[in-house]
Amino acid sequence: MLGKIEEVKKAIEAFQIENQQKLEEFRLAFLAKKGVITDLMAGLKEAAPDQRKAIGQALNDLKNFAWEKFDGIQSTMVSASDSVDAPDMNLPVQSLPLGSRHPLSIVRQQMIEIFEQMGFAMSDGPEIEDDWHNFSALNFPENHPARDMQDTFFVSKDPDVLLRTHTSTVQVRLMEKQKPPIRAIMPGRVYRNEAISARAHCLFHQIEGLYIDRNVGFKDLKQTLYHFVKEMFGPDQKIRFRPSFFPFTEPSAEIDISCLICNGAGCNICKYTGWVEIGGSGMVDTNVLKANGIDPEEFTGFAFGMGIERTTMLRYGIRDLRLFTENDVRFVSQFAGLS
Ligand code: PHE
Repeated sequence: MLGKIEEVKKAIEAFQIENQQKLEEFRLAFLAKKGVITDLMAGLKEAAPDQRKAIGQALNDLKNFAWEKFDGIQSTMVSASDSVDAPDMNLPVQSLPLGSRHPLSIVRQQMIEIFEQMGFAMSDGPEIEDDWHNFSALNFPENHPARDMQDTFFVSKDPDVLLRTHTSTVQVRLMEKQKPPIRAIMPGRVYRNEAISARAHCLFHQIEGLYIDRNVGFKDLKQTLYHFVKEMFGPDQKIRFRPSFFPFTEPSAEIDISCLICNGAGCNICKYTGWVEIGGSGMVDTNVLKANGIDPEEFTGFAFGMGIERTTMLRYGIRDLRLFTENDVRFVSQFAGLS
């Protein structure tokens, strides 16, 4: 029996363990319930009584010997794999690259905040529209050349389904569901079938404003937009209203501000006039109020629509509209940290 124990000890010594699989094989061969050592232990009761003590002792030593080898190798394997995964706390911190918000989102948010402070609520509507919301309810007579002012992308004809050419559609949707007083702004994407250049794009963004209540006058429109321009571009910014025409407003005015790119000296953005148009405005035409079930004898209102791209270009001195849609990281990353 003692000879057998010695043999097993040699086998334990000779067993090469170079990986996890071998370690498991070792455990099964010597230490598991069906392993050699358990077998030997079972044979102890057959040994002669006077030898039992010595054999028992030798078996215990053998068992400890096997466990020591197993534990020793297992712990070196665990610590080797640990050292691969464990972070080295002394290394310098690797900063994660931070994204930046798109300049149009930044300016859109700034515009919204200025109007919200004046009590305008937010509203929105669909980009795919019908003729009624884009034209008819806004007093564009059928077959009237005013419809050509805005080159339209049609999704289908008869009945007309189109991509909205302006956010004035949302005015109509709002008047349909809400009775005056209405004081809301409506930011959104609009589409026009125009050749893409530094100054024009086939998709861009507008913010529409609508204020309908008793006794709303042109002075309220002017004051609201004066305040907006000073907040957005600074107290020294010049603003002018230029008589214009829109089917849905009467009287109508184009809103111009002095060109921030060239400070009035003349550049391609202001067409060398020193002034840039940021949007249209006017008193809501009585026909529009009537078409939307609002009594023009009782209520009056003003509306305006401004381009977010144009505002952003002036705010940050950007000269080419196409930069907004190209998403060149060298451009957009310049706005990191702005909100
Ligand atoms: N919807 C007009 C446009 O896109 C702008 C506008 C809005 C004009 C509201 C007057 C009032 O050109």
